[in-house]
Amino acid sequence: MARSRSKHVCSECGHEALAWSGQCGGCGAWNTLEETVVAPKTKRGPGSGGDKARKGGARATPLRDVARPQEARLLSGIGELDRVLGGGFVPGSLVLLGGAPGIGKSTITAMALGNLAASGRRTLYVTGEESAAQVRMRAERLGDDALAVPALAETDLAAVIGAIEAEAPEVCVVDSVQTLHSGELSSAPGSVAQVREAASGLMEVAKRTGTAMVLVGHVTKEGSVAGPRVLEHLVDCVLVFEGERERSYRTLRALKNRFGATSEVGVFEMRSGGLVAVEDPSARFVGEATAAPGSVVLCSMEGTRPLLVEVQALVAPTEVVPPRRVANGIDRNRLAMVLAVLSRHAGVQMGSADVFVNVAGGVRVDEPGADLAVALALASARSGKPLAHADGRPLACFGEIGLTGELRAVGHPERRLAEAAKFGLESVIAPPAPAPDLGPLAPAKTLRGALKRARAICADAASPVEPLDAAA
Ligand code: TYD
Ligand code: MG
Repeated sequence: MARSRSKHVCSECGHEALAWSGQCGGCGAWNTLEETVVAPKTKRGPGSGGDKARKGGARATPLRDVARPQEARLLSGIGELDRVLGGGFVPGSLVLLGGAPGIGKSTITAMALGNLAASGRRTLYVTGEESAAQVRMRAERLGDDALAVPALAETDLAAVIGAIEAEAPEVCVVDSVQTLHSGELSSAPGSVAQVREAASGLMEVAKRTGTAMVLVGHVTKEGSVAGPRVLEHLVDCVLVFEGERERSYRTLRALKNRFGATSEVGVFEMRSGGLVAVEDPSARFVGEATAAPGSVVLCSMEGTRPLLVEVQALVAPTEVVPPRRVANGIDRNRLAMVLAVLSRHAGVQMGSADVFVNVAGGVRVDEPGADLAVALALASARSGKPLAHADGRPLACFGEIGLTGELRAVGHPERRLAEAAKFGLESVIAPPAPAPDLGPLAPAKTLRGALKRARAICADAASPVEPLDAAA
């Protein structure tokens, strides 16, 4: 039998070479040669396709007549995870779970497999990163269910595929995909070629055995899963686990999901016995909100669910040139834009001060609706006046800020306002809504108008936003 071997193919021009080199001999591009496996040649004549070609080619089927997949979902028993997955794992599918080291990827997968094993499902935990003994120690913290999961410490791709074929698990976790290596490639484990080879091998066995496969992947410094996003289009679902390692809150979101919405987000808290779903994150974040200067509550949307979070800002004299602009939980460019609009259209200048903006609890909000919260928190931090009612209850807001200083509508104003009302927040500064009477809405058309509104509402609590530069 012909042995398979590897070759190096340029990703730009398709030029093939037997050995790797930094520059492609075909098109002259640098670092484009990637190692791939050459499948052994089968004995077929030219114009292959063999029998099918002779019988008049492959037949297409009207979609109406294609058998519907039997979508019996496998529930992990972790409500937030099942929701983000779109209702549990789909048999035969590939899920990529990415996240920074120490965020809790191994913990959540071990918990999910434990629950599945307890409900009578066949499971398998393949660990390439830790020894089986280390996995056991984690499982001990998670409880009896997690200890029932069969574990395999293996990094050889062929051996892992063999074990999956033999054990035929309904759900299998590979932790992590970057540790697997195929003997057919000479490149090191974790390289693009190896990761791609491992993922396609696992995908093939997943489809064949109907196993729901979870690939754990590290996120590189650039923020992509497994290097240059090689896996993201291969798999059915990409989940990312985010948060700060030192903080207890974690968010799980879907970047891609062939079986559900990508807007869902799960919120977890890391405790001593594993991850605990935070059923009502708004209550948590509002309860922790301080009514100190520089703090405001943002009514954000996490997928289909409204979420109240606290946005904090600090403006402090600087010792460095240029001054610092630090953003945690929001986009840095968005912060720069809000600072520019504040200065140009609302007369709030930060001058040469350091500026820090933080979303409390280690949460990330990736939506333009957070702009107004950032602006109000900054203005309040600048003036040292709190954004709160006389009784100390915090002010809430949402809305996108345009470059001309106007406030722009964002999605689901009614849900955001309803959530604020649910937690007893009386005033929500936001762009005017189409329906006039929406609970606690305090409408404003421009950023300047919003600052004025905030000043009026918080007058009793010592007027909040009085930008020093705009005092005149
Ligand atoms: P881990 O799941 O190993 O992270 P990852 O696989 O993403 O690298 O664990 C993350 C951290 O969580 C680790 O520092 C230990 C901590 N932890 C707890 O606080 N409680 C627990 O019950 C467990 C299992 C871990
Ligand atoms: Mg791990």
